[in-house]
Amino acid sequence: MGPYCNNYLEGFHIPFVHDDLDAVLDYGKNVAAYYYWVFPNMMFNFYPWGLSVNIVQPLNIERTKVSFVSYVWDRSKLDEGAGSVLDKVEMEDEAVVEGVQKGVRSRFYKAGRFSPTHEKGVHHFHRLLAAFLNRE
Ligand SMILES: [Fe+2]
Repeated sequence: MGPYCNNYLEGFHIPFVHDDLDAVLDYGKNVAAYYYWVFPNMMFNFYPWGLSVNIVQPLNIERTKVSFVSYVWDRSKLDEGAGSVLDKVEMEDEAVVEGVQKGVRSRFYKAGRFSPTHEKGVHHFHRLLAAFLNRE
């Protein structure tokens, strides 16, 4: 579950992993989509066409199930902006998250420090996790 949430909570990977999303993001506009994350495992993504909900369910320590539920309220905008390449973006995230999951199991992997500029959301997620796991 961790790698999927980590991926969601930082946008630094977008230019490297999501070429189409990067291309459709209109940097002249202030808002392309609204992304809300509800701790610990729900994401609400508002696009011009409607809402995509992601529900992240840990199945065991190594397996996670992610459910994608879409609510379309304007079909005419399905091909517009950040929401138009959603399926491809989700597949790209799945591939990198699975790669990260393999990588962290490697004996060559060592946890490093969070980037103060690019990983604020990930850091917040891990602080919340630590706080809830340490509660009695
Ligand atoms: Fe992504």
